[in-house]
Amino acid sequence: MVEEKPLFGALPGDPKAKTWKVKVFDSKTGEVYTADVPEDRYILYYLAEQGMEMPAQCRNGCCTTCAVKLVSGEVHQPEALGLLKEMKDEGYALMCVSYPRSDVEATTQDEDEVYVKQFGESFESGGVVPGAVLDAIEDD
Ligand code: FES
Repeated sequence: MVEEKPLFGALPGDPKAKTWKVKVFDSKTGEVYTADVPEDRYILYYLAEQGMEMPAQCRNGCCTTCAVKLVSGEVHQPEALGLLKEMKDEGYALMCVSYPRSDVEATTQDEDEVYVKQFGESFESGGVVPGAVLDAIEDD
């Protein structure tokens, strides 16, 4: 018999690690994900192991699909490459690379909204419209 591996291949962590109550409201589905998450585990991975599938794509801190806005609490997210410092300072977090540092309440965010908020205004065109068709490129 082949032993099934955890869905996300997460590390086991320290079984004696302190845990924090994490509650994430999924603004698209209305689901609420709650668990006592060890402080040495990424929140998204731990929730998945408990059977709660949050929105996610890269699971590596780059794409912002798992972005949340913290309602209360603190997370540690040094590997969150997909978020500018300013966004982290505003309370945004990427759950796939966030460790809880207190009890946490958060709400999922729309990926396009987060992306446009931090990068859209930087584009040469002056911004982007989510879902818009690219302008046709004319030859010189
Ligand atoms: S799933 Fe891509 S940043 Fe978390």
